[in-house]
Amino acid sequence: MTDLSMARTAPIAGFDVAAIRRDFPILSQQVNGKPLIYLDNGASSQKPEVVLDAMDRYYREMHSNVHRGAHTLGDRATTAFEDAREKVRAFLNAGSTREIIWTRGTTEALNLVANGLAPRLKPGDEILVSQMEHHANIVPWQMVAERTGAKVLPIQITPNGELDLDSFRSLLNERTRVLAVTHVSNALGTVNPIAQLIEQAKAYGAITVVDGAQAVPHFQPDVQALDCDFYAFSSHKVFGPTGIGALYGRESLLEEMPPYQGGGEMIERVSFERTTWNILPYKFEAGTPAIAEAVGLGAAIDYLNQLDRAAMEAAELELLARANTLVETVPGMSIIGTASQKVPVLSFKIDGLHPSDIGTLLDQQGIAIRTGHHCAMPLMDFYGVPGTARASFAFYNTLEEVDQLFAGLQKIQRLFA
Ligand code: ALA
Repeated sequence: MTDLSMARTAPIAGFDVAAIRRDFPILSQQVNGKPLIYLDNGASSQKPEVVLDAMDRYYREMHSNVHRGAHTLGDRATTAFEDAREKVRAFLNAGSTREIIWTRGTTEALNLVANGLAPRLKPGDEILVSQMEHHANIVPWQMVAERTGAKVLPIQITPNGELDLDSFRSLLNERTRVLAVTHVSNALGTVNPIAQLIEQAKAYGAITVVDGAQAVPHFQPDVQALDCDFYAFSSHKVFGPTGIGALYGRESLLEEMPPYQGGGEMIERVSFERTTWNILPYKFEAGTPAIAEAVGLGAAIDYLNQLDRAAMEAAELELLARANTLVETVPGMSIIGTASQKVPVLSFKIDGLHPSDIGTLLDQQGIAIRTGHHCAMPLMDFYGVPGTARASFAFYNTLEEVDQLFAGLQKIQRLFA
């Protein structure tokens, strides 16, 4: 058994995690009398001071509505808002800001795409999702399938939590209209071979939709290199504020799709005889948008851009490797999801313990994790569990925190042994 007192707590090579942590004010507090150890980043990540400052400055110095005012504040707000869109474009390497739609988050983005593609679907058409999808990438497709007569079919997964590529290939055929898959599993941490899936689905003429919510906090996607048709993510998972996300969509498809919601901004001209739509991306942005949140997301992207991304990714993998080596120190603990390509997410169970008890007892030690089905019930069914306990790490977590998580789990296990 590994002796945790001997655990390595030195800074991870090439990455000054202590300096990084000073950028995140929330991390330096005590919870339940213990220093906070925040390991629920898969649910929502924390915000660096520069994001908080950018939003505060926006409201203090430039708030007004966008694209409307014939006045200076209106211009300032519009510039800040559209600058943020350009930052998202660059972050995803999209070809044009016309292809970047603001949404409330990944869920709304996926609903927008499913609804927008509905007119192309007919009875017998097939929509492929996977067994490891978040409900946000299952339910909108089921709702659209019900309306159109299309079918939603799940790609199977292997016991270690990878997509079963044989199952994928066997499902592909000329009726496959849409492939909607997650880049990274929220519950398992599996990184899927998205480029390969997209290439194969395109050979059958399918439209490809990627849920990138759990990928972007860990690495930067390139939508042109992936050659996907749609890519969605949420700001709050990528160190920005809640309430906003973005959808990349291929321009030709966005042009063809009907608007998602009606109202102000998304129109060109309204009359009782005929209403016409605004140009992209505004056609999909009805109503006053989340302006301060867009500015905050832009600041989060700036923050990420000044980090050494390669060192950050290496540091995260060190956290995961450390956690994997410590599993054997907790009797009865097993990991759910042991794919060869993973981000630092550790879903686990401990014999004889309910996941929610693990969560509550860790919280008493100041350690925040998520427990439950993680909005991925079909995946829980596959593993035959009602839920798991999940520790999900971010680049600001330390090896010492990993050790403290396992010390906490050992304590809980001893309590119930
Ligand atoms: N989808 C988020 C999670 O995985 C909420 O926790």
